[in-house]
Amino acid sequence: MKKIVILISGRGSNMQAIVEAKLPLRIAAVIGNKPDAEGLAYAQAQGIATAVVDHRPHATREAFDAELMRCIDAYAPDLVVLAGFMRILSEGFVLHYSGRLINIHPSLLPAFPGLATHRRALEAGVKIHGCTVHFVTPVVDHGPIVVQAAVPVQSDDTAQSLAARVLQQEHQIYPQA
Ligand code: GRF
Repeated sequence: MKKIVILISGRGSNMQAIVEAKLPLRIAAVIGNKPDAEGLAYAQAQGIATAVVDHRPHATREAFDAELMRCIDAYAPDLVVLAGFMRILSEGFVLHYSGRLINIHPSLLPAFPGLATHRRALEAGVKIHGCTVHFVTPVVDHGPIVVQAAVPVQSDDTAQSLAARVLQQEHQIYPQA
């Protein structure tokens, strides 16, 4: 059975959606970069191994990434799944996992890479917004697209209401990917 490791920084609702989808794979571990990432408690309660690699004690991005790689590789995963993992990863890290590192992003890439995607989509006046699962390459929020879901923008949408509908779609497409 294929093994995956999921990386989170916070809430972990996408990780939870993957767990609840009961896919034919083994979630070898959920790793957070913050000891208080809420998703870690959920994973523990499900009996999934968890680990924390705190970015703060590391002087450089490369030092943190090296420690994170050691932690991930101890589980020998076939696929590394970024699920709301809010750290930019070094080129060395990304190349180490080339072809087996995926991310979910709350926009229809290549539109709106980066942060505050829902506010920016509203400001741009797009009528169709959505989310994307893509392979990770050294350029942030780029890389081959695996699956996308479109979410129509409503005239009375706020960033929050739009984010909530996009998140529902994220929870569908990440397990599918
Ligand atoms: C999601 O919107 C995801 O697309 C983005 O960060 C958010 C994480 O949410 N990369 P959660 O932690 O999965 O609930």
